[in-house]
This record gives sequence, C-alpha cells and structure tokens, in this order.
Amino acid sequence: MIGRRDDGYHELITIFQTVDLADRLTLEVAGAKIDLEVHGGSAPSGEKNLAYRAAQRFLENWPLAAGVRIDLEKTLPIGGGIGGGSSNAATVLMGLRRLTGIPVAVEELEPLARELGADVPYFLYGGTALGRGRGDRIEPLDDLQERQVWLVTPSLEISTPDIFQLHGAQVMAGAEAPAAARWRQAIDWSAIADGRNDLQETVLSRFPVMRDVYNKLVEAGASVVRLSGTGATLFAIFLKGEEPKELAATLPADSRVVRTRTLTRSSLDKRFVVQ
Ligand code: C5P
Repeated sequence: MIGRRDDGYHELITIFQTVDLADRLTLEVAGAKIDLEVHGGSAPSGEKNLAYRAAQRFLENWPLAAGVRIDLEKTLPIGGGIGGGSSNAATVLMGLRRLTGIPVAVEELEPLARELGADVPYFLYGGTALGRGRGDRIEPLDDLQERQVWLVTPSLEISTPDIFQLHGAQVMAGAEAPAAARWRQAIDWSAIADGRNDLQETVLSRFPVMRDVYNKLVEAGASVVRLSGTGATLFAIFLKGEEPKELAATLPADSRVVRTRTLTRSSLDKRFVVQ
C-alpha cells in the first residue's frame, strides 16, 4: 500500500495471479439488444451485472448491427475477493473482441475496463502481473511456475471500501518505484512468500473467523498464507513437503474450500474457444 489518493482510492503495488477456477461465459452476436442470462449463484442480472455493463461499453465504442447474448454460469463466490465480477467483465470485452474480429488492441480496451472497476484491467491480461495505481495499471510479468493452491473463503461479507477506510494509509512518498522494481526483477514463489498484504491485519483483526482460518493454514505447514485483496478469500501454497490430507476437515464447516492450481497466461489463453 503506497497511500491514499485525492479521489479516495488507494495507491497500490500488487501482484495478480490467475487460478484454475472460473465461471463459464458464452457469448453470441445475436438478437437486437444485450441479453444476459445468469445461472448458479446469486449474481445480479441486467445492468447491475458487470458482464452486462462490459458488453454495453463495448457496443458504445464499437457498434454492431446485432445485439449480444451472454450466458453466465457462476462458480466463483460473489464478493469472495477473487475477482469474480471483474474477470467476467474483462472476459466479455476480450470475448467480443475475438468474436467480432474488430481490430481492437488490448490497450484500447483498458480505459473501458478501468471504468468498470479497478481490478478489471488485470483480467484483460491474466497470468502473473504487476498492478500499480489503483491496481488498474497492469504490467504483465514472467509467469510464476504453476502450483497447487488452496482457496479458503469463510462465509462472511467483507466490504472493500470499509477495509481500505479502516486501514487508512499515509502517502509513502517515493515508495512506488523501488517496490515495483523489486517485483519486476525477481518473481518466484519464494519472493511471494516474503511479500505481504498490508490490508491483511485489518481484516484478520475485524473478523475472528478469518484469523482462525489463517492460523489453521499456517499450522498445516503452508509456506504462503495470504489474504487475497480485501478478502474474504485466503490462499495457501505448500512449497515444501506434502499437503496435509485432512486440511479441509480442520477448517470452519461453512467455509468454501477449493484446491486448484495457478495458471500461466498461455494456459489461460487456451480456455478461450471460438465455435
Ligand atoms: O473500483 P472498484 O469498484 O473495484 O473499487 C471498490 C472500492 O474499493 C472503491 O470505491 C474504493 O473505496 C476501494 N478501493 C480503494 N483503492 C483501490 C481499489 C479499491 O480504495 N486501489
């Protein structure tokens, strides 16, 4: 965390990483307007959904003769702090770019993505990336080696603005350049283990269940246990030794526990299918 800006947002240096857990979006150029159908989960429909607004913004900039049909099958937790809504929005932008064949550079999609949310630009790139500014200025980095990762999301709602507000932040003059330079140079999992999330202590102090899960993951021997964004997901990576077989049983019963793996940019790219 570098500091609070005049616009109320916080200046960050952050690392983004794609994992192999996703919603499924099916896009079709058809009909006369934007038509969004959501299955599973309790994601909002219509304009309240970021996927809808992404399609709207794309069509405002690059009008088509027809409308767009979007089918969204939710798997990612809503408000889980792992970018479910943001990745949907970016994927609609990237998908429409591919589907329509309109020659739009990814850089041209960035301003649209930025308006939709601070985390949306990252999902235009995926893989391992450095986020600066509000987290919306993206520099793709060399991909981290793919690893197994546990994602644990206790059942609670965490408000991102509240956490930023509670944490506060003095502007740390001159802090950004050295921090960014460090990540550009040495990106491996042990550097991630040595890193930190400045918002983590605020979240662990406010929500005892988050502290409990954090402690359980550390006790289980994970090398990296870290809050994702402002939560409510904690991720754990076991760099040394075996993963404990009964880990899930030690965690609160109403937590969502997913064992998945990280994905490189090229693995992610293969998930786009044009039919
Ligand atoms: O842009 P997005 O909708 O993702 O941000 C949600 C809220 O999180 C913002 O309104 C702001 O209160 C807070 N935020 C922040 N600094 C950031 C990103 C988000 O203060 N870099």
